[in-house]
Amino acid sequence: MRIIIAKDYNDMSKKAANMVAAQILLKPNSVLGLATGSTPVMTYKYLIKLFQDETISFCHVVTVNLDEYIGLSKEHPNSYHFFMQDIFFNHVDIKLENIYIPDGMAMDLETECIEYENKIQKNKGIDLQILGIGSNGHIGFNEPDLKFEGITHCINLDDETIKANARFFEKEEEVPRRAITMGVKTIMNARKIILLANGSEKAKTVFNAIHGKIDPALPASILQLHPDVTFILDREAAYYI
Ligand code: GLP
Repeated sequence: MRIIIAKDYNDMSKKAANMVAAQILLKPNSVLGLATGSTPVMTYKYLIKLFQDETISFCHVVTVNLDEYIGLSKEHPNSYHFFMQDIFFNHVDIKLENIYIPDGMAMDLETECIEYENKIQKNKGIDLQILGIGSNGHIGFNEPDLKFEGITHCINLDDETIKANARFFEKEEEVPRRAITMGVKTIMNARKIILLANGSEKAKTVFNAIHGKIDPALPASILQLHPDVTFILDREAAYYI
């Protein structure tokens, strides 16, 4: 595991974007695993800048997103489909057919999970996965549990996650209670992983993920077993490291 302590959120984002850019330069048809939430927003902004400067192109890149809320349409402003289009995809030259995000409106959610996992495998797995971390240690929407869940599946969101994500919705009641998420095994199969965290409210969770025991009660702790994982933290999130 590598730990990079960045000066601040801006610096963390720049370092993350540079690592993603390096991956694309090395392999223009890379499969990138993408995350939502507030943490990677600036990373996407830096990637857009690198695209505008013609340093990188996304025209051969394939992206697979970690998760999506169940019950929100692609057009819903709080869906991760909308978020990704708005924050990132609309601003780069990625091809629509190369973008994969789970469909939270699928009639048959179990089949959607299996098909989503198959799409990732068909693209020969993820070259570089970007992760955030929930305050309860979740990655994607893999919530604290008694065991690590393997592949893409449906989950019930924890109360803590619902509360944390309520800031994006008008009312807490509007936060969906369920989601589709890549599983821990899907994430761990990525050849390279970058986990981003900023802010003091993530500091204890980050410390436990890195130094605590490997425990499904803190899903990010599994990353201790990944052969190529880099934590990029701002100083506040790295406070206990
Ligand atoms: C969300 C997402 C995660 C994200 C996490 C942290 O619920 N499902 O992929 O990493 O919570 O969010 P934030 O970056 O806003 O703190």
